[in-house]
Formats: sequence, structure tokens, C-alpha cells
Amino acid sequence: MERCSPSCAVCGLVPLAPGRRHGSRIVAESPAMQAVLKRAARFALADAPVVILGETGSGKEVVARTLHGNSPRRRRRFVAVNVAALPTDLLESELFGHAKGAFTGAAAAKVGLFEEASGGTLFLDEVAELPLLLQAKLLRALQDGEIRRVGETRSFTADVRIVSATHRDLAAAVRAGTFREDLYYRLKVLTLRVPPLRERREDVLPLACLFLREEARKLHGFSPGARERLRASPWPGTVRELHNAVMHGAALAQGGELGVDDLPEELVARAGPDAGAADVRPLAEVEREHVLRVLDACGGSQSEAARRLGLGRNTLWRKVRSYA
Ligand SMILES: Nc1ncnc2c1ncn2[C@@H]1O[C@H](COP(=O)(O)OP(=O)(O)OP(=O)(O)O)[C@@H](O)[C@H]1O
Ligand SMILES: [Mg+2]
Repeated sequence: MERCSPSCAVCGLVPLAPGRRHGSRIVAESPAMQAVLKRAARFALADAPVVILGETGSGKEVVARTLHGNSPRRRRRFVAVNVAALPTDLLESELFGHAKGAFTGAAAAKVGLFEEASGGTLFLDEVAELPLLLQAKLLRALQDGEIRRVGETRSFTADVRIVSATHRDLAAAVRAGTFREDLYYRLKVLTLRVPPLRERREDVLPLACLFLREEARKLHGFSPGARERLRASPWPGTVRELHNAVMHGAALAQGGELGVDDLPEELVARAGPDAGAADVRPLAEVEREHVLRVLDACGGSQSEAARRLGLGRNTLWRKVRSYA
């Protein structure tokens, strides 16, 4: 398996993911993912804010960490916060810190995540869920480069690169009035879209192998049946679902390899023995479909279609006649 390590020949990124248990790896075998990483490699060198879009579980955080790990800020911290996970006031003091006695229970002063990330990157996960009140505060912090702890009058400068992520359509949130337009433009100076796994099927098995190596060193691979099921699944839950499926299998597998019976039931049901068969159609059938489509695109002209298909006119004529 070819991986982006230590420095990818395609994108030039060193796939660092500091602070993670399974840190230094990112799989990008597919052209779609390689395109994302090439873009990320350029973004890493800029200091502008980045928004990373993509379905839940598609790998937004992995990309954010890689971006940070390849930026001039890599020696400073990557601080991640899920802004959907906390109620507004808690989130405010989490982000900006608070003074001693700022509110009941604030027995001591607290350093906020902005300060912690100073010189590094602050990753705002699920940014579309940021409450409007904090959107205003964040905008101020970004515009002035200054932040103020809750309950303090004095402000200080914060040198932080903001990388945010969301699985939502942020532009739609702006239209719906749940996300400030001015903040939207501040945050999305640079945009990366991480495609879901179904749009980059070349990554499925390399990712599965990576997860298997990480989760179950005693297993040496997948049975041919299990590989086929993994390959054929549409992966609605994208990479996270694949990760879970491999962990499930690794927990159950006996002997040296992970078999079909070790995979989660819903996966086996979803990608039954015939699921992959849709992709494995007889060549003649695929050829017929293609020839007729090209013929259509050429307005029915057999000589033009033959030229485009790289066939002799007589050969094409015989084929078309056989389809009648
Ligand atoms: N390209 C990749 N290479 C290696 N591991 C990956 C890759 N993409 C995703 N993963 C792994 O898949 C899981 C989900 O990725 P991640 O947490 O980055 O997704 P996410 O888009 O942030 O999801 P969510 O929207 O749910 O927060 C993690 O375990 C991560 O390590
Ligand atoms: Mg995430």
C-alpha cells in the first residue's frame, strides 16, 4: 500500500497529525483525495482561515491536523474544540477564558482556548452550530485580533490561525439567518471539501488495511469475501463507519484474518453477495451501453461514432446490428 509518508510525492505534505493516538497517517490513494491534499499543501503555507466542508466522518479533522502539521505553526499547538458540544456560556469561557470570580463557580482565572492555541491553530469543529452570541464575539476577535476573557476589561492580542469544519451547508445557514454573513466571509477565505468515501472508492481498502494494522496487529489481513463486502458497501457513514466496521471485525476475528462473518451485520446485509455484482457486469453489456451512448452523442452518425470509438465503420455497423 502506498501512503503519504514520510512526504507525499503527490501533494508534498508530511502527513502529521500531532496529538493523536494514531497520529502520523493519512490515506489518499484516490485522485479525489489527492486533489484535496494538493490544495491543502498550498493552504498550509498561507495563514488565512480555512473552512473544511464534508459529511460527518469523512475525515475533516484529519485534514485539519495535517494542514496544521505542515504549516509554519506546526511547532505550536493544534487546539480542537467542538462548538456544538457545550452550552453557550460555558463555551464562551472555554474559548475566551474568564477572570477569577467572573461568575458563580469561577473560583480561579481560566485561560481560554484562544490563548492556548496562541501561535498555533484553533480548530472550530461543527462551526455552523456556534450560537449567534458567540458568532459576534468570534467575529470581533478575528477582526481586531484581540480577545477578552469573560469578566475582564483588558484585552490582549491572540495570534491564532482559525481552521473550522462543518458537515452543514454553511452558505445555506447564512441564508437561513442562523450564521452571520460577515463571519462566514471571514472564516471561509480558503475552502476545502473532503469528499465522502463513496466518491473515492480507491481509498476503501487502503483505509481498511490501515485501521486493521492499528487495531489488530495479530491479524494479517481480510479474507477475499470480507474485502469484497468492504469494497461493495456504499459507506453512508463514510470513513468513520469503515473504521467502526474494522474495529468490530477485529474484535471478533479468530485466526489470522478478518472474515465476512466478523463484519457488522448491517454491512453484510447491505452489501449482500449480489451487491458487488452490479459492478461486475458482462463486458458485452457494458460495451453495448457505451456504444449506444456514443452513437447518441454523435446524433446517430455511425461514421462519427466509429471515429470516436476508434473502430472501423464496418465493425461498428455489425455491433449496432447485433443490438437490434
Ligand atoms: N484519509 C484518512 N486517512 C486516515 N484516516 C482517516 C482518513 N480520513 C478519516 N480517517 C479516520 O476516520 C475517522 C473519522 O475522521 P474525522 O474525525 O477526521 O472525520 P470528521 O469529518 O471530522 O467527522 P465528524 O464530522 O463526525 O466530526 C477518524 O478515526 C480518522 O482517523
Ligand atoms: Mg470532526
